[in-house]
Amino acid sequence: MSFADLLRSLPIPIIQAPMVGASTDALALAISGAGGMGTLAAGVLAPAEIGPAVAAMREATDAPFAVNLLMAPAASPDLAEVQLALDRLAPWYTELGAIVPATPNQFAPNFEAQLGALTAAGPPVATFAFSVLTRPQVAALQAAGTYVVGTATTVAEARAWADVGADGVCAQGVEAGGHRSHFLGDIDASLVGTIALVSTICAATQLPVIAAGGIMDGRGVAAALALGASAVQMGTAFLLADEAVTSVPWRRAVIGVGDEPTRLTRAFTGRYARGIENRFMRLMHGVQDDVPDYPVQNRLTQPLRAAATQADDPGMISLWAGQGVTLARPGRAADLVRQWWAEAGHIAAELAVRTGRGLSA
Ligand SMILES: Cc1cc2nc3c(=O)[nH]c(=O)nc-3n(C[C@H](O)[C@H](O)[C@H](O)COP(=O)(O)O)c2cc1C
Repeated sequence: MSFADLLRSLPIPIIQAPMVGASTDALALAISGAGGMGTLAAGVLAPAEIGPAVAAMREATDAPFAVNLLMAPAASPDLAEVQLALDRLAPWYTELGAIVPATPNQFAPNFEAQLGALTAAGPPVATFAFSVLTRPQVAALQAAGTYVVGTATTVAEARAWADVGADGVCAQGVEAGGHRSHFLGDIDASLVGTIALVSTICAATQLPVIAAGGIMDGRGVAAALALGASAVQMGTAFLLADEAVTSVPWRRAVIGVGDEPTRLTRAFTGRYARGIENRFMRLMHGVQDDVPDYPVQNRLTQPLRAAATQADDPGMISLWAGQGVTLARPGRAADLVRQWWAEAGHIAAELAVRTGRGLSA
């Protein structure tokens, strides 16, 4: 069976986006159980944790699921640069009554080791962000029975994934919440909207395309499928789901977002990511180009964000969310997914009537 066949066989072609800090295995299982496909966000797992996590998913469901890794570069930053970054963050730590961390020994789990563990575990689908695998790495996963999906923010990045033999590509539009996955061009080149990105990648490659970014309900699902996508990947739409572990202040920010914008920032992690604008983003805006690259800055702000969450202070938390955030709704994840798919069906029927292809009532 090809990956396109697998996507076609899903009763509901909705994939739950991996969301480090918000998604859980319970969320992934709920989506896979409802007929979509859940994703385990394994980006922050130690290599030794990956095999057991995949085994637990396999034990819990016969339905397909995905596991996601973040391709963080190995970091060996200059100590003076780390100290400067910590000095810059010190007033924020002090404000919360938290201790400024010492220079960490490790900034992120070792990607090569994570990939080795994932390949050994052989989940049904593996998805990747921030870079592109090599051909042998893709082949090893495929030999283990795993379909490989790469994230692309441009046509060139989709082609790069096609060139290494990936089975599918996730087209991440600029609307998307969380980190931008660009790896070939600079940030400006990666800011393509989901409509243009999905259509152009569909035209440029033979790979099945998964549309991501700004899809919040059945209207977005129907639109993405109409553009040629084989499935959609939704993240922000699940932030208020019962099974998500979105923290209390983060949930409150999502619910109360009103007309507040979401913005891209480098300040929290050293890699551009979209979230609800808050005080940290505003006040760090001027120095965001100076902070160390991901994963260094990400690691240095982790204790700050944890302390701010503990203190119920949304001003210093990375409130990752996409441009559609005002449409996020609470509820059981399985119910949300079924409802969106039903909505997509109604929209398709209405469009059939509107275009003269269907029977009007
Ligand atoms: C809170 C949050 C965390 C995310 N974490 C990850 C992650 O760990 N790995 C990844 O590949 N993408 C991650 N993303 C991006 C999603 O895969 C996807 O591109 C995005 O959610 C789609 O746009 P939407 O949020 O408008 O639905 C995250 C997104 C959000 C909102």
